[in-house]
Amino acid sequence: MKIAVVGTGYVGLVTGTCFAETGNKVTCVDIDKAKVEKLSAGQITIYEPGLEKIFLRNIKESRLKFTTELEEAIEDAEIIFLALPTPPGADGSADLKYVLGVADHLGKILKGYKVIVNKSTVPVGTADKVSAAIAKNYSGEYDVVSNPEFLREGVAVDDFMKPDRVVVGTRSERAKKLMSDLYAPFVRQGNPVIFMDERSSELTKYAANSFLATKISFMNEIAQLCERMGADVDMVRRGIGSDDRIGKRFLFPGIGYGGSCFPKDVQALIMSSDEVNYEFEILKAVEKVNALQKLHLVQKIKVFYKNDLQGKHFALWGLAFKPNTDDIREAPALAIIDALTSAGATVTAYDPEAMPNVKAQIKDKIQYATNQYDALQNAAALIIATEWSEFRTPDFEQMDQQLKNNKIIFDGRNLFDVAKMKELDYHYESIGRANA
Ligand SMILES: NC(=O)c1ccc[n+]([C@@H]2O[C@H](COP(=O)([O-])OP(=O)(O)OC[C@H]3O[C@@H](n4cnc5c(N)ncnc54)[C@H](O)[C@@H]3O)[C@@H](O)[C@H]2O)c1
Repeated sequence: MKIAVVGTGYVGLVTGTCFAETGNKVTCVDIDKAKVEKLSAGQITIYEPGLEKIFLRNIKESRLKFTTELEEAIEDAEIIFLALPTPPGADGSADLKYVLGVADHLGKILKGYKVIVNKSTVPVGTADKVSAAIAKNYSGEYDVVSNPEFLREGVAVDDFMKPDRVVVGTRSERAKKLMSDLYAPFVRQGNPVIFMDERSSELTKYAANSFLATKISFMNEIAQLCERMGADVDMVRRGIGSDDRIGKRFLFPGIGYGGSCFPKDVQALIMSSDEVNYEFEILKAVEKVNALQKLHLVQKIKVFYKNDLQGKHFALWGLAFKPNTDDIREAPALAIIDALTSAGATVTAYDPEAMPNVKAQIKDKIQYATNQYDALQNAAALIIATEWSEFRTPDFEQMDQQLKNNKIIFDGRNLFDVAKMKELDYHYESIGRANA
């Protein structure tokens, strides 16, 4: 099939590349000229494991190309995917200006039947709005489909190539047939393509992310109780996770959820609920708990140093909002940096992939180390904010040499065993567990 993908960020680039990988001819379009130039020259613009290899292969096979011209991208396309930003507006609701702007443009240039598929996370009713925006200038045939994306950054290629499920919202038989054919290679193992109406599909995405965010905030509150009651959250997690109804995944406490999706999607669903006069009480609490949890580690640090961080220097491992990505949107590490530096402390950070993005955003507010051990030089303590696997089994001897008398770790991701840290003679504080 011939496909256009509008927007080549984390979702668009993975979508375009993976559709090309199954033999489709894909043209990706983006308004960011520099990005399109880089991609056209075979340079990948995001860090996503496994993506670069198939990206290069499909460019070489002429199945994947990039342009800044929407008209050129959609000319031969049977299906047009929108993978555009839907950031929070001033009131927290999803800002649809990118999606509706492109829909308006499409109305002026469409020729013949096309399926316009919304992959962005959008409030219920957006398919109707997109359809209306197109219809203002185009009276030909088209269908607008909702096809929310569930990929996780860090494992996005795997998620896209082997999705747990594909959700497609459309009531058009013609669009349904095209979408079934397009996704057939991705669900050969029998995972379902679930067809539904557009509104249910749009809500499914918000419900999924909000439920996962709820799980995280719930466990963070259990961790708070553990700290106060002398229980161990790892034990409680294992105790409840082996119940099938609860499940083992997403039960890890930490320093709050971040990233480009959970915070904005939770906020947007709260706003959408308000619009239909429904107070989504649970989600409001989820948000509140998360905001507090993001600073929980800093609170521990402040207590340890008796509220005097002036002139203290900290090493920080991890900047990305989660491992295996360079994405720093709403990363808890950034909230920690803000809190520490405004209390007069200085920070040297190390992250395997996210340092260029942090440098571009906060410049020399902190220093950047060339590896995880160099970051420890002259540090009063180590703070861990992202659970990159290379941080899990570090060389403690090398750490000891750098930290000297300051064998102190504040771990927001519970990477180490408390008993082992005791043995290694560290002062070790983590989330929901006793200190070593
Ligand atoms: N990142 C994720 O993990 C993830 C997962 C599932 C769903 N989503 C949703 O997918 C959507 C896109 O997210 P993302 O993380 O890929 O965003 P992103 O910011 O990484 O990418 C968006 C891209 O769209 C481009 N763009 C903006 N206006 C444009 C226009 N008029 N024409 C062409 N290109 C334009 C931007 O330049 C950018 O490259 C959002 O709604 C998000 O909520 C994201």
